[in-house]
Amino acid sequence: MNKKTTKAAESPILTIALPRGRILDEALVLFARAGVDLGAADKSRAGRRLIIPIPEHQMRVLIVRDTDVPAYVEHGAAHLGIAGRDVLEEQDRDLYEPLDLGIGRCRMVVAEPEDQPVDENAHVHLRYATKFPEITRRHLQARGTVAEIIKLYGSIEIAPLVGLADRIVDLVSSGETLRQHNLIEVETILEVSARVCVGRAAAKLHGDRIDEILARLRRVCSAG
Ligand code: PRP
Repeated sequence: MNKKTTKAAESPILTIALPRGRILDEALVLFARAGVDLGAADKSRAGRRLIIPIPEHQMRVLIVRDTDVPAYVEHGAAHLGIAGRDVLEEQDRDLYEPLDLGIGRCRMVVAEPEDQPVDENAHVHLRYATKFPEITRRHLQARGTVAEIIKLYGSIEIAPLVGLADRIVDLVSSGETLRQHNLIEVETILEVSARVCVGRAAAKLHGDRIDEILARLRRVCSAG
């Protein structure tokens, strides 16, 4: 075996899929505290680079949409990734979720207009607008509620104000967007935070390296 092959076999490049947006900044801080400086990913963002080599840790970072992280990881294009529990539960893919990082905290709630509360016993045709049709479907099914689900891609709070839906299922962080649109929470479906997800093949092939990263992150998370 020549020298080059030996080196590659000893230190395979570990690929991490990180979601662009709010979670990315917090994730980079956690990794840095865990002794894995992915700062180059931060700098490269400004230059619009989406694949960022981190040679000092034999890693590379993929910057992808939050909803795309599970696909990269499930199909082995990334060995691990970080995704919100909302995204993971909605897609329900074949992944390990070994660690909740406690970042990107928010809640998924059912909300409705304050001045037009839904009467669930009125047997009218109810419509729920959401970016999360699967979670909404499971929630309604568990409650025995029959309703139409309208899938949207953003600005969900508008839907009940213009007659598109009776209720919404959406993420709430500060609650300001609901307040601005005179919507009130009916119930919480899910407490959301970001989790590390790992592909099944990656766990088998790179288990030791992934476990080491998880152990470091776990120490940082439990230190608060
Ligand atoms: C998210 C979410 C709410 C808002 C909640 O939207 O869907 O609309 O943030 O935050 P708040 O409780 O602090 O007001 P996002 O900003 O992702 O935009 P979107 O409407 O395109 O989904």
